[in-house]
Amino acid sequence: MNSLRELIEQDNNHSLLDLLSSLCQGSIAVDEHCNILWMSDAYRNLIDIPEGTNPVGSPVETFLPTTQLPRVIKSGKPSFVDLMQIKQQWCVVTRLPIKNADQQTIGAIGFVFYDDLDSLQPLFDKFARLRRKFEDEKILRPSRYALEDMLGNSLPTQQLRRQALRAAQLDTTLLLLGETGTGKELLAQGIHHASTRRSGPFVGINMAALPESLAEAELFGSAPGAYTGAHSKGRIGKVQLADGGTLFLDEIAEMPLEMQAKLLRVLQEREIEALGSNRLEKVDVRIIAATAKDLRQAVEKGTFREDLYYRLNVLPIQLPPLRERQNDIQTLSFHMLKQIQHQSQLPELALSASALQWLETYHWPGNIRELRNRIERGCVMAEGEFIEADDLGALDDLPKQRDEQPEHTHPFENTLRESRSQAELKAINQAIKLCNGNKTAAAKHLGISRASLYLRLKQAP
Ligand SMILES: Nc1ncnc2c1ncn2[C@@H]1O[C@H](COP(=O)(O)OP(=O)(O)OP(=O)(O)O)[C@@H](O)[C@H]1O
Ligand SMILES: [Mg+2]
Repeated sequence: MNSLRELIEQDNNHSLLDLLSSLCQGSIAVDEHCNILWMSDAYRNLIDIPEGTNPVGSPVETFLPTTQLPRVIKSGKPSFVDLMQIKQQWCVVTRLPIKNADQQTIGAIGFVFYDDLDSLQPLFDKFARLRRKFEDEKILRPSRYALEDMLGNSLPTQQLRRQALRAAQLDTTLLLLGETGTGKELLAQGIHHASTRRSGPFVGINMAALPESLAEAELFGSAPGAYTGAHSKGRIGKVQLADGGTLFLDEIAEMPLEMQAKLLRVLQEREIEALGSNRLEKVDVRIIAATAKDLRQAVEKGTFREDLYYRLNVLPIQLPPLRERQNDIQTLSFHMLKQIQHQSQLPELALSASALQWLETYHWPGNIRELRNRIERGCVMAEGEFIEADDLGALDDLPKQRDEQPEHTHPFENTLRESRSQAELKAINQAIKLCNGNKTAAAKHLGISRASLYLRLKQAP
């Protein structure tokens, strides 16, 4: 037997497939390229494949975006009991690689079970516990960055580094101010790392990413059964988790007013009260807050407490925008280029002189993060051994100029759109080539979903 497809085709009266279907509530077979060879009717119903749609021949991820079958194919190893969520329901899945006489993997079969899972309840509980533990640990990981990771030798960067080192020696509250992408989080981690609290936890929380209704329990914790839906055993807040270490409050301007009062108490009294507990607890945390917004203005508008503003503003550190650190651009670009090439094992590339010149004169609204994104893009777009300004998206600035003119009078509108889709298609094809034909990897590399990669390929002329 050389291919699973042949085997399935030879199974004329479908006795093998019927057997598979009767074993479980859904079964599927894929070939060595992870394309679907067969899917049981039950599985089709389970994932709602409409009548008349034939999944056979399509990549398995088209219908099962979270499938692990590709991994089984790649590793050649079975996965006997795994949990997979299909339409809000947890199912137990088993996946087996199929091998030929030479032990080459020629496909894989997956089974889904969801009926009569009561005997598996302990397994589900354990899974839920592990997940919770993992989520708690994720925020307790040591800081990833040290101050040495802050690159650049321009005068403003040197000054920033000196300020950071001094701030690390003190144990006061810090306020990091700077536009988006200027390195506030990197700096907060670097300062923690250089401080006496380095062996304690670094716990970050982004106030903008937190729905107001959850924010209080997330930050200060909740007593057992404090409110409906709360963890029955209560929840430890991030402030307690940061005890002995540093609490990084990102996007502080977004903190709801009610919580600002509680934070003020942490800063003044070093104590917190978990939601619904009526009990004060001592905590020892150093707070580093950050914002890209003008806090002074927020105070004037009444969205930020003045007393809290003064408490936070003890030692403000201003991170200069990249356009004021022009002398760093070359160092940063070279370093990032090396890093990206190392991570993605791309062929060696260099920045052309004109590309470098463009990088040094561009206005960088997204600062260092944008620089990184553009260098990544350049690596994918470059045709030869040099990355040119176009590859970095230098032409992306054009739409801004276009906006200044009424839409209908612009003669280049269509050509611009066409050239953009051509450039996109070029990038996609190049990425696919670089990833040896692996479209999933190519999509990941380009920062787009697999579905949108396929869509663009389909729309190509
Ligand atoms: N001086 C630097 N040297 C090297 N990399 C840097 C430097 N500053 C920032 N970076 C990188 O730039 C990216 C953005 O940095 P960071 O997330 O710290 O910015 P931020 O100010 O927190 O942005 P935002 O306000 O959007 O959250 C990160 O990938 C970071 O590692
Ligand atoms: Mg940030």
